[in-house]
Amino acid sequence: MNQDIHVTLVGAGPGDPELLTLKALRAIERAEVVVYDSLVSPDILALIPAGVKRIEMGKRCGKSSARQEDICAVLVRLARAGNRVVRLKGGDPFIFGRGGEEALYLKQHDIPFSVVPGITAALGCAAASLIPLTHRGVSRAVTLVTGHLQQGGEFRGWSALAQAGQTLVFYMGLEQATVIQQQLLAEGCPASLPVALIESGTTAGQRITTTELGRLIHTAERLTPRGPVLMMIGEVVRLRAELTATLDSLAVA
Ligand SMILES: C[S@@+](CC[C@H](N)C(=O)[O-])C[C@H]1O[C@@H](n2cnc3c(N)ncnc32)[C@H](O)[C@@H]1O
Repeated sequence: MNQDIHVTLVGAGPGDPELLTLKALRAIERAEVVVYDSLVSPDILALIPAGVKRIEMGKRCGKSSARQEDICAVLVRLARAGNRVVRLKGGDPFIFGRGGEEALYLKQHDIPFSVVPGITAALGCAAASLIPLTHRGVSRAVTLVTGHLQQGGEFRGWSALAQAGQTLVFYMGLEQATVIQQQLLAEGCPASLPVALIESGTTAGQRITTTELGRLIHTAERLTPRGPVLMMIGEVVRLRAELTATLDSLAVA
């Protein structure tokens, strides 16, 4: 039993275990208990040393999952019992990961904590799908947006999201394809604006589907994803075809 009460909120990245930071790996290796969320990939769970207690506690879109207050209470209880606790989360704990809520709860209960960042899905998926999120002359801003925009009141930022020259990355956006398509078109985005839907980015199950804003609802309805899906909207998506073609021609040469 370790007397140094501490919880480390650790970002596990988007799935590929090689995208873990060294700091994350060390925290996992030193942990006495790992409380992980449902987005953490099996390949990363395999890195938890044998004998370390594992507890799955996560939020799952559309499926029954642990309540946030229960997760927070478990972290406090485990830490007060003297365990070195790692709270392992998909991507980065502070990007749509409820990491801020968990950190606040730990602070309110006088539990020392630290945060190890992880590669968030937007960055992992961008690299894995060869879609640069910014590109000179094409996109000079990136906005990370939750698909759950209407939670907590009506969202009033659609006109800002519709400004040209930027890339939008929607987390948890697939189920909201209808509202995203309708609102962006209503704010003047062209129907031809390219969209990429990246499923299970950076993992062996990665699948990339490209479409246009005007066909987003149609495409989303036909997707049958087995893993999480990220939605990228912007002219940068066109670069993927160019970059993959370049790679193919280099491979042939
Ligand atoms: C609750 S959010 C968690 C985000 C996480 N904290 C991060 O920084 O990536 C879950 C959403 O992230 C996106 N996501 C996470 N990992 C992904 C992956 N490997 N491929 C595609 N989308 C992913 C999906 O949109 C999913 O619905």
